[in-house]
Amino acid sequence: MTFSADRPNMIEFKDVHKYYGDYHALRGINGTIKAGEFFSLLGPSGCGKTTLLRTIAGFEDISSGAVLIDGKTMAGVPANVRPTNMVFQSYAIFPHMSVQENVGFGLRRDPRSAAEKARAVEEALEMVGLKGYGKRAAHALSGGQRQRVALARALILKPKVLLLDEPLSALDKKMREQMQVELIKLQREVGITFVLVTHDQEEALVMSDRIAVMFEGEIAQLADPETLYRRPNSKKVADFIGTMNFIPCTILSEAGDKVEVDAKGLGKVALDIHQAPPPRGETPVVGLRPETLTLLYPGQTATERETAGVIDEVIYFGDMTYYDVYLGGTDTEVRLSMRNVPGRPVLDVGDKVRVAWSPEALVLFR
Ligand SMILES: Nc1ncnc2c1ncn2[C@@H]1O[C@H](COP(=O)(O)OP(=O)(O)OP(=O)(O)O)[C@@H](O)[C@H]1O
Ligand SMILES: [Mg+2]
Repeated sequence: MTFSADRPNMIEFKDVHKYYGDYHALRGINGTIKAGEFFSLLGPSGCGKTTLLRTIAGFEDISSGAVLIDGKTMAGVPANVRPTNMVFQSYAIFPHMSVQENVGFGLRRDPRSAAEKARAVEEALEMVGLKGYGKRAAHALSGGQRQRVALARALILKPKVLLLDEPLSALDKKMREQMQVELIKLQREVGITFVLVTHDQEEALVMSDRIAVMFEGEIAQLADPETLYRRPNSKKVADFIGTMNFIPCTILSEAGDKVEVDAKGLGKVALDIHQAPPPRGETPVVGLRPETLTLLYPGQTATERETAGVIDEVIYFGDMTYYDVYLGGTDTEVRLSMRNVPGRPVLDVGDKVRVAWSPEALVLFR
């Protein structure tokens, strides 16, 4: 996960603000996107993802602050001369043109010879897995194939930065997952900086080197997927990414780099300060992901902590089972997940169980 650290900056945001009239859409965006990085802007509808992407492309003026691309400020630089290209959600390809005409459209003012342009089109089509489709009419393509044509059309201009605004959201789940893998491969191959907008947290986790999680015009956390998942810096981020159990707790002591808490149902736990992001003045809770809690079967013992529980709900998923369990004779209910492997029977509602967990998996929000 050190990929991003030693790369030069491709895009820099310096205290970027954007107002639409009175509406404050971007509220002081800071951060950098590295060269060759697959970067995602993730957040709920209306948080400002598209707006921020459009400030990179130059489709949107900013009210204050600065956007730099490759070390140069973009103030006053029009969209058509920026080293960026954008792929839109509604893959705007021309249905009446052939695939190769669509892909070659961006080269219409390119001084290269027709033969050279044709070769560039073929190359771009090959990149997106559409070799041999050049003569096909664009309207005779599936949704996934159209999206590839849109990608090829953007890539043929060899931008330094490719901006993708929810490019896969119109595709069904299977096709979307397939295109996700292909986009990752493609990005590695071409080495171009990709900035993807998505409101789908799984998509962001799967695809990105780093992710900026946005709420209400601000970046709440900017980190690699594993850090975001394991060490979210706020309850809000933790809640937005994956499933997190929140357990009420009281803070018993705080000294040096240790915080001791008493969590309802779990008991006293000593946490390292890195498990406790900066306080926000909220009612304290500890967060615990479902897969960090494990049911112990007869003969198994916990390597760290063990808590008695009672199963309240069983949700069977084929490969996995989710259990809602009351912990330690309290009304604290947590969801935990178990992989259904041979020799591990699915348990029933009302069963008394033993739950293993590790203090290291906890995050304190307060
Ligand atoms: N041209 C505009 N004029 C006024 N308000 C706008 C304009 N464009 C966007 N907004 C507002 O700015 C906020 C951010 O919009 P934006 O399109 O960036 O959200 P988003 O995160 O991309 O959401 P979604 O996931 O729904 O696409 C929204 O509240 C939106 O209504
Ligand atoms: Mg949007």
